[in-house]
Amino acid sequence: MDKLLINGGKHLTGEVTIAGAKNAALPILCAGLLTADTLQLSNVPRLQDVATMEKLLRQMGLSIEKNGEVLALNGSDINKPEAPYEMVKTMRASILVLGPLLARFGEAKVSLPGGCAIGSRPVDQHIKGLQAMGAEIKIEGGYIYARAKKLKGTRIVTDMITVTGTENLLMAAVLAEGDTELENAAREPEVGDLAQLLVAMGAQIEGIGTDRLFIHGVPALHGASHTVIADRIETGTFLCAVAAAGGDVVLRGVRHDILDVVIDKLREAGAVVNVNEDSMRVQMSARAKPVSFRTTEYPGFPTDMQAQFMALNCLADGNSHVTETIFENRYMHVQELNRLGAAIEIDGHTAMIQGVPTLIGAPVMATDLRASASLVIAGLAAQGETLIDRIYHLDRGYDRMEVKLSELGADIKRIK
Ligand code: EPU
Repeated sequence: MDKLLINGGKHLTGEVTIAGAKNAALPILCAGLLTADTLQLSNVPRLQDVATMEKLLRQMGLSIEKNGEVLALNGSDINKPEAPYEMVKTMRASILVLGPLLARFGEAKVSLPGGCAIGSRPVDQHIKGLQAMGAEIKIEGGYIYARAKKLKGTRIVTDMITVTGTENLLMAAVLAEGDTELENAAREPEVGDLAQLLVAMGAQIEGIGTDRLFIHGVPALHGASHTVIADRIETGTFLCAVAAAGGDVVLRGVRHDILDVVIDKLREAGAVVNVNEDSMRVQMSARAKPVSFRTTEYPGFPTDMQAQFMALNCLADGNSHVTETIFENRYMHVQELNRLGAAIEIDGHTAMIQGVPTLIGAPVMATDLRASASLVIAGLAAQGETLIDRIYHLDRGYDRMEVKLSELGADIKRIK
């Protein structure tokens, strides 16, 4: 298992290019199941989760031609509308094949994802929405068996806001008979990016970017070209890294308009952030000020940035508190940060962070994707050596993070 060795205390300077968004690329790849024509995708990030999704889709018969970050998908030969447990257990986002398979082929067999490191994460809303559209669903032997001769448009109000739930139901509704109203829809930019691709494929969708999507079903979708939106969480992670370690970095290929709250919080922490059309410059020369926040759905503070800001708060000049409202168990990084000398206490869903002047490097363990990113940030800012184990979690969602950080002057290397 690979590890990362960081010798902390170096400022970050230079330029870094941000990749396409993981959480947009994953549903967008599944949209390849919705048409027999070709989808041309660019800015697809080179990540382990993307590779897992490609493997899953290929075994269903989707053809994928790959040239770096450009992919051509063809769904004229899908012959196995199934997602086996062996794949779903390694990546929950595999559930995103359910809506498109059912909409185009009238059947799907998809393993139920199990629990996960950050929370129980049920998929009841995906199932409830598809049933409302007329699907017969049975759960047996850990699998979801779904059938519908033709899905029918209807009004669906999800009990809570769910990102992949909205994406699954949207991909089902575009090929349903009649109109679907999707209320309480997630407004995350990645949902909007998927919707834009579907429109380019011939879908009729109104309300993109809002919490009410109105979909007029069409009989078939055609091929299209699409560029995956910039990864706002990778962007935010690099911004936090500079704020924690100090330095002056230009980030290229970014979208600042989908990062308002994150940028505001970094400015509150004392970072100077200047934005341009598709680039951003972040400068930090002093000790960070503490910033408190609650995670919420977009456009609020993203849960996927909670751990990284926690690392920044550990070294801040004062105390802060952070409340996680999306996932019940997303504090696995806290014990590891405390091993580096941080002073964090958890009370229910809230973490109280007492800023300390220095962190001291130590061996730590990555437990999930964003927890790994927070340990990297803490390691960059700590004195001495930090050895991070189990960084396969990091590779799931960051494109060669250690290479990008080395190019910015960090002393970081992968140990095989
Ligand atoms: N929920 C239910 N029932 C459902 C669906 C969701 O109870 O049917 C609950 C979840 O348990 C959770 C809350 O609703 O407490 C929100 O979950 P959501 O469904 O929005 O999360 P997700 O779609 O599974 C996506 C991202 C996550 C990100 C969350 C929240 C993808 C592939 N994953 O997950 O990304 O944290 O939305 O923004 O888009 C990551 O990239 O590190 C990551 C975990």
